[in-house]
Amino acid sequence: MNVRNATIDDLQAISAVENICFPANEAASAAAFEKRLRVFSGHFWLLEDEGQLVGYINGMVTNHITINDAMFEHAELHDENGAWQSVFGLAVLPQFRKKGYAGKLIDHLIEKAKEQKRAGITLTCKKHLVAYYEKFGFTNRGISQSTHGGATWHDMVLHLKS
Ligand SMILES: CC(C)(COP(=O)(O)OP(=O)(O)OC[C@H]1O[C@@H](n2cnc3c(N)ncnc32)[C@H](O)[C@@H]1OP(=O)(O)O)[C@@H](O)C(=O)NCCC(=O)NCCS
Repeated sequence: MNVRNATIDDLQAISAVENICFPANEAASAAAFEKRLRVFSGHFWLLEDEGQLVGYINGMVTNHITINDAMFEHAELHDENGAWQSVFGLAVLPQFRKKGYAGKLIDHLIEKAKEQKRAGITLTCKKHLVAYYEKFGFTNRGISQSTHGGATWHDMVLHLKS
């Protein structure tokens, strides 16, 4: 298993994994991924098994402690000098789940955010994943303003600085 930064050449493989892992109303479009890869590929990491894409984690850097829906489509809102590393998407192919691979991607993102001296990490998740992210030190700030895909989301934040 190897973690590396994504490039625009990975667009098709990423889209294929996204469409397996998320329902159509929540999946990011290929156009949204293309913009993300052009603007913040430095914050888009892939987990591969002998060259096969197994999963990924990605998100812009922002000065907002919570994610808002505009960010998902507007990669240009990325601010390389922002305080918060966000997570827009975390996905692992079904046949590779429950082996700690998503955890490996989260740990990698935390490590990079520490190296880059970010204030912390911000993400939104559904209720059933709140406890999962808490295991990594995230705290639940309550119901998000996000209505992405028509679902209810929770704002989760991990503080890296006291
Ligand atoms: C959510 C998701 C990314 C998790 O991926 P994963 O690689 O299975 O995650 P992990 O292996 O790190 O952890 C999953 C569970 O397996 C457990 N686990 C980890 N390693 C394990 C092992 N070796 N043996 C048994 N269980 C293990 C973890 O403790 C965790 O348990 P929990 O569900 O009780 O918290 C994956 O299910 C997915 O892609 N889902 C669809 C998309 C999605 O919802 N993404 C999140 C958006 S916020």
